[in-house]
Amino acid sequence: MKILITGGAGFIGSNFIHYWTRKYPTDTIVNLDKLTYAGNLENLRAVEKLPNYKFIQGDIADEKLVEKLFSEEQFDLVVHFAAESHVDRSILDPDAFIQTNIVGTHNLLRAALKSKTRFHHVSTDEVFGSLQKTDPAFNEKTPYDPRSPYSASKAASDHLVRAYFHTYGLPITISNCSNNYGPYHFPEKLFPLFITNLLEDKKIPVYGDGTSVRDWLYVEDHCSAIDCIIRKGQIGETYCVGGNSEKTNKEFTTKILVLLGKGDEMIEYVTDRPGHDHRYAIDATKIKNELDWEPSVTFEEGLERTVKWFRENEAWWKSIKSGEYQDYYKKQYGK
Ligand code: NAD
Ligand code: TYD
Repeated sequence: MKILITGGAGFIGSNFIHYWTRKYPTDTIVNLDKLTYAGNLENLRAVEKLPNYKFIQGDIADEKLVEKLFSEEQFDLVVHFAAESHVDRSILDPDAFIQTNIVGTHNLLRAALKSKTRFHHVSTDEVFGSLQKTDPAFNEKTPYDPRSPYSASKAASDHLVRAYFHTYGLPITISNCSNNYGPYHFPEKLFPLFITNLLEDKKIPVYGDGTSVRDWLYVEDHCSAIDCIIRKGQIGETYCVGGNSEKTNKEFTTKILVLLGKGDEMIEYVTDRPGHDHRYAIDATKIKNELDWEPSVTFEEGLERTVKWFRENEAWWKSIKSGEYQDYYKKQYGK
């Protein structure tokens, strides 16, 4: 197969390229990525010299570029990861989220339709909104209720993808996945920020009282779920993907402090995120029953693997934390 992967230089996209080239070494991969602050070619050193891998720097919001790419290459499949992905950045500056997540997705859909190319859209559980403690977990029938500019733009993109299926017959599938963690995770998100801050002996900023809940999935399991949907999923269908691993931010914080041998004095409680979604949780019964997919890495195992990776790849995250990242961090946390 010849596959177009968008956003392949980011966290999940680069993990997916590693996963795919290991599992399907004869497939050809074209990686289209704008290389925003979150895109990093260092994530792809191990594959960049493969004869069947090609990188193209480009913006999915650039209609002409996308059109030209599809007219020059015959793709069998698009796996669409490219997005602005950080909720806090969407609160500070939503414009790029509209351009990339909505306009960019639409450009890809329009181009894919010309050749009726199979399209897998990678989305998030955040489109479903926020749960209270005792609410049942999200499933494929949960009504959309996005509450941040990030989740609203992802919700819009999901609707467009479905519209292209119902209206024009584009062969699509969608996955709505819970929070990922693992190697190459950009250190502005909870997991890598806390791990790298503690490795640098810096404090860790817990928003509000730390009682918000996320359902964590090791990134390789997300890759295997997407693979499974591509191979066995039904066209036009959506699949919720989760880790069966709900943790409050405080629970995560305690575990990470123990793993890194630090005390509670490293915690700094900071002002809560505006409109902070309290809880996300996924009921992954459909993908388990219909496609026989389940997460294979436990939270404890994944956390240990992730900490090990960040310990062993200090140069990777230190170079990120010394760049534009610092301006963002200052804007976000005031220091
Ligand atoms: P990321 O921010 O780490 O990476 C995004 C990548 O997209 C970067 O390489 C960036 O350069 C690229 N990109 C951004 N704008 C672009 C544009 N206009 N044109 C081309 N490339 C562009 O994001 P991630 O965490 O890897 O998330 C990937 C996808 O998975 C996103 O669609 C996100 O909504 C979804 N998702 C993420 C999570 C999570 O926990 N991180 C969970 C569920 C779903
Ligand atoms: P994040 O990694 O930004 O993912 P999400 O898209 O789910 O918001 O945040 C995960 C949780 O951690 C969320 O409840 C906000 C919280 N959080 C902190 O407490 N401190 C931080 O510095 C960050 C980045 C997040």
